[in-house]
Amino acid sequence: MKKTAVTDHPISELLRERWSPRAFSDQPVPADVLRSLFEAARWAPSSNNEQPWAFIVATKDDPATHAKLLSKLVEFNQAWARHAPILGIAVSRLAFTGNGSANRNAFYDTGAAMADLTTEAISRGLLVHQMAGFDPRKATEQFLIPEGWEPIAAFVIGYPGNPQSLPEKLRERELAPRTRKPLSEFVMSEKWGQPAPFLK
Ligand SMILES: Cc1cc2nc3c(=O)[nH]c(=O)nc-3n(C[C@H](O)[C@H](O)[C@H](O)COP(=O)(O)O)c2cc1C
Repeated sequence: MKKTAVTDHPISELLRERWSPRAFSDQPVPADVLRSLFEAARWAPSSNNEQPWAFIVATKDDPATHAKLLSKLVEFNQAWARHAPILGIAVSRLAFTGNGSANRNAFYDTGAAMADLTTEAISRGLLVHQMAGFDPRKATEQFLIPEGWEPIAAFVIGYPGNPQSLPEKLRERELAPRTRKPLSEFVMSEKWGQPAPFLK
């Protein structure tokens, strides 16, 4: 299923086709494709080129790790995420490697890496669904994430599935229209709250 964004202004097709489904096919993702997704993340920009991201990734080829990662998700997310072939957690390093000072852009940069991974995924017919609903403390313990690194968001990667496979409530959400704030609410100039003149 597609859920192409209905935009107010033209944007690239890859971005229009990105969305966060809950119905995933169980079709496996080939290892070379997975390598390309993380290669895309690798080339994301970051403050001081720190590249403060790391990813814990579980494929269904390794059912024990897949189950371990799945169990860190909240129940709501487990219900649909279990069918997807790839589960992951994006992790950020909170301090700069060089001098140990706080890296206030670590989360931002990790998000940029995920965004690039997501766009690469779409170009290969895959979709990514990110999740705040997981237990970062348990993930840290069970995946031996070292001190100074923090799990930020979990994610699912897979090929689109059939929305009819979802329970009724999730199916309704899957089929509901996608909504966004207008540009005038968040693109400002001159002072806060003043929409940028080029929006007119
Ligand atoms: C950091 C982050 C956390 C999210 N957490 C969850 C989650 O725990 N469960 C869920 O079903 N969707 C989650 N989502 C998906 C959002 O609800 C979704 O991106 C948003 O509704 C916009 O829909 P779209 O991605 O289809 O455009 C999350 C997305 C992001 C980026």
